[in-house]
Amino acid sequence: MENKHWWQQVVVYQVYPRSFKDSNGDGIGDLKGITSKLDYLKKLGIGAIWLSPVYKSPNDDNGYDIADYRGIMDEFGTMEDMDNLIAEAKKRNIRIVMDLVVNHTSDENKWFVEAKKGKDNPYRDYYVWADPAADGGAPNDLQSTFSGTAWQYDPASNQYYLHLFSKKMPDLNWQNPKVRHEVYDMMNYWIDKGIGGFRMDVIDLIGKVPNKKITGNGPRLHEYLQEMNKNTFHGKDLLTVGETWGATPEIAKLYSDPRRNELGMVFQFEHVGLDEQPGKSKWDLKPFDVEDLKRIFAKWQNELDNDGWNSLFWNNHDLPRIVSRWGNDKEYRVQSAKMLAILLHMLKGTPYIFQGEEIGMTNRTVKDISEVSDIESRNMYKERLAEGYDPKDLIHSINVKGRDNARTPMQWDESVNGGFSSGTPWIPVNPNYKQINVQDALVDNNSIFYTYQKLIQLRKDNPIIVWGDFELLKTDKEVFAYERHYQGESWLIVNNFSNNEHVLHLPDIKPGEMIIQNYDAEIKSLDNLTLKPWQSFVVKVVG
Ligand code: NOJ
Repeated sequence: MENKHWWQQVVVYQVYPRSFKDSNGDGIGDLKGITSKLDYLKKLGIGAIWLSPVYKSPNDDNGYDIADYRGIMDEFGTMEDMDNLIAEAKKRNIRIVMDLVVNHTSDENKWFVEAKKGKDNPYRDYYVWADPAADGGAPNDLQSTFSGTAWQYDPASNQYYLHLFSKKMPDLNWQNPKVRHEVYDMMNYWIDKGIGGFRMDVIDLIGKVPNKKITGNGPRLHEYLQEMNKNTFHGKDLLTVGETWGATPEIAKLYSDPRRNELGMVFQFEHVGLDEQPGKSKWDLKPFDVEDLKRIFAKWQNELDNDGWNSLFWNNHDLPRIVSRWGNDKEYRVQSAKMLAILLHMLKGTPYIFQGEEIGMTNRTVKDISEVSDIESRNMYKERLAEGYDPKDLIHSINVKGRDNARTPMQWDESVNGGFSSGTPWIPVNPNYKQINVQDALVDNNSIFYTYQKLIQLRKDNPIIVWGDFELLKTDKEVFAYERHYQGESWLIVNNFSNNEHVLHLPDIKPGEMIIQNYDAEIKSLDNLTLKPWQSFVVKVVG
């Protein structure tokens, strides 16, 4: 990378507005609530907020179904509140990154309301329509990510429209230049407001060719992104990150090689699939193997080293809580959460924290489907129940992988509803809020929060973290150790990724100054050093 960008040097914090902070007691988080917590985020040290969608929406998929891209959802507040959030964040040197959801809209978006009026409507081609198959059924067998067919019949016109997500989320037709330019205009509207960039929802799908059953990585995808870049954020140094399921390093470079003028970086999900049975869905579980994680992280670190940029994340609003997933959220919750933080934040790339991760929030457990809010889990349950699956197994999968895990309200303090809302929260607060909350974390110098705060500060102070090379070291299977090298300096990062002790044997590396750790250890030698469960440390290497 020739130019150094601000977004390569900051840590980003994702806010899921519905669950962050409710300011008016209606049980739903809102913009004023977020603004009221900016000082907390400033204290943590982050440089940008990725704001999940706040636009007008009927909430079939909690805001990822947008009815008006230039309006704010009533429950979240007004455009004035939004402008105020951007301005207040700016005062604290925090930029607001908007969620750009342009693979699809809500069926309540005025474009779709028009499009449905008939084949001659000027908006018809904003969406993807197809005639029925010869037998009158769906045009082909494309499936929705939210279960079942991706085609919905429209009796008025005797055609089907495509929805790769819920049937209330019709897909936009990116082959239509009018659609593309509407999107660019809308992006410029937000850029003019002074936002810090865009996180681009399922952007790998916009090049789809439905009649050929191509969804991801379609033939014109990169042409569209280059056109978007040129018409919107080019030369403005905004953070742009594409959500790209299934990306390999080769694909990621197509998006993020700066010479190609597309995006700054992508979210890749290779590690996210490590507890899934290959070729099956996220619900089909298999045990997680640390060796696979090492291999995958090392591959991405090395392959994107010179002509691309990594984003680093464990969590988001679609994924379970990392400390419950790959840490130990019982007896080693604090140690394992800190280990996971240190491991990730010492890598090369831009780290993302999902709200609550910085205090070690955990998954919540439901007993039956009536407690499940998320459309993806509910649809899967219904579909698999009809196919004869055991409901107990389905609830187990939902408890392990369901999206509600990340969406329970932020736990601020010990007061009612964890201080999230004085009303009834739209989704129940995790019952452990009395043990795990921000207020307690802030008064405990040893809390997970302060590990995150320190990691963020270290990144600001040490170019080796931002720019250094990565080298994986050979160790026991459950130990993830690597070095970073920069301008003659080397740091060693050691992580015991397990409940067991492990002996580390790196006799040739001489440990120097301790940078950060999750126990109170003095590391004098790396020759047969016994690592405690989940132990993690970073030391400078001498010589
Ligand atoms: C990815 C988002 O992260 C997820 O929450 C949403 O359901 C789908 N895209 C559809 O917008």
